[in-house]
Amino acid sequence: MALGSESVHGMWSSRLMFVMAAAGSAVGLGNIWRFPYVAGENGGGAFVLVYIGCIFLIGVPIMASEILMGRAGRQSPINAMRDLVAHSNANPLWQVIGWMGAMAGFMILSFYAVIAGWAISYFFQMGSGAFTGTSAEQANAAFGALTGDPVAVVGWHTLFMMMTIAIAARGVGAGLEATVRVLMPALFVLLVVLVIYAGVTSGKFIEGLSFLFSFNVEKLTWEGVLIAMGQAFFTLSLGMGAIMAYGAYMPKEVSIISTATTIALLDTVVALMSGMVIFPLVFANGLESSAGPGLMFVTLPLAFGQMTGGAFFGAVFFLLVTFAAITSSISLVEPAIAWLIERMKTTRVKAALVIGGLAWLMGLGSAFSFNIWADLYFVNGMTFFDLMDYVSNNIMLPLGGVFIALFAGWAIDQDITRDQLSVGPVAYNTWRFVTRFIAPSAVFLVFLLAVF
Ligand code: PHE
Repeated sequence: MALGSESVHGMWSSRLMFVMAAAGSAVGLGNIWRFPYVAGENGGGAFVLVYIGCIFLIGVPIMASEILMGRAGRQSPINAMRDLVAHSNANPLWQVIGWMGAMAGFMILSFYAVIAGWAISYFFQMGSGAFTGTSAEQANAAFGALTGDPVAVVGWHTLFMMMTIAIAARGVGAGLEATVRVLMPALFVLLVVLVIYAGVTSGKFIEGLSFLFSFNVEKLTWEGVLIAMGQAFFTLSLGMGAIMAYGAYMPKEVSIISTATTIALLDTVVALMSGMVIFPLVFANGLESSAGPGLMFVTLPLAFGQMTGGAFFGAVFFLLVTFAAITSSISLVEPAIAWLIERMKTTRVKAALVIGGLAWLMGLGSAFSFNIWADLYFVNGMTFFDLMDYVSNNIMLPLGGVFIALFAGWAIDQDITRDQLSVGPVAYNTWRFVTRFIAPSAVFLVFLLAVF
């Protein structure tokens, strides 16, 4: 069996385009919606530090592993794993990495598309001035009215899924690359504008900073550390094959380790900047930093509603969220779409429709978790939505990440990893040591401590 040199699905046209696509995958609801609220729920400072530690200590080496496995296999993660296993004479059980990843992709997208749908709805609501001068009760009621209406939630969810399918169906060059090329720079500009706006108009820039960076260990639990680690995997799109799929389209001469570091840095900067938009607004309006998943949807419209230019900047904010979500959702479906194309020799349009359709169907479970299925609990008082979020982020992604690290560190032929990473002995051995020992044991330790 020969490992290919080009992917049949297409290739990124340059290093920059790979960085934009992978950063596009990484930067998403995880940074703007999820990071601030989980940081808020877990007390800020110390949580943020653990999170950043996980990103660079565990995340970057695993990201490098995913990219190299994708680039060596040059196919969908499922088939790349099959060929890498065969080439390295490894145990066929390793192939579970590809399958588990595709499943995690469906689970994540099932709640991701629902939240992204809310963001689109809020873009229109904010822009129409619906929140100008709103009170806390009204903002709460508006959120409840949207999420409580199954038709509205499914409608927005459907719209978001259709956009994802439309982009994915156009392929790597005309779809994915063309989209990130425009949306990623736009996203960055919008974010800078919003940080300045929130900082200046709220007068609480320093409070926001100190919430994110003041080190308060008492507020941190082992459960919180697990959540920080899960968040690190989620925000970097690791552990499920999205980055592996994108790695398959990466030009051969590009350096993997430095690129992975760049992507992690960009992602961290965006998460911190989102915190610097949200927390100053939260504090200026006497709101709760620990409000949970509704944080972005209740507190921000309220805060924007009190400020001059708030309707405009609020709409800009939700546009930003929508852009960020789209550049991530296309990477959530790519592993499964690429696999279906390879497996059934079908066209990309058909594959995108089938995979997107299935993800849409599963998303109904999350969409209904806020209305007709709100009282349907699966385990531990978790709705379908809570369950998908918890299992995918805190269990499947870290577990997938560990398997990827173990496979790249122990099972793959070393000539493959050496050739793909092509760095000096010090960098190579550092990567290998972290991948073999540090990353897997750190993840297991956190698992154990959080459970007991
Ligand atoms: N990283 C994305 C975010 O932060 C979510 C994601 C997870 C995308 C896993 C792809 C794979 O929103």
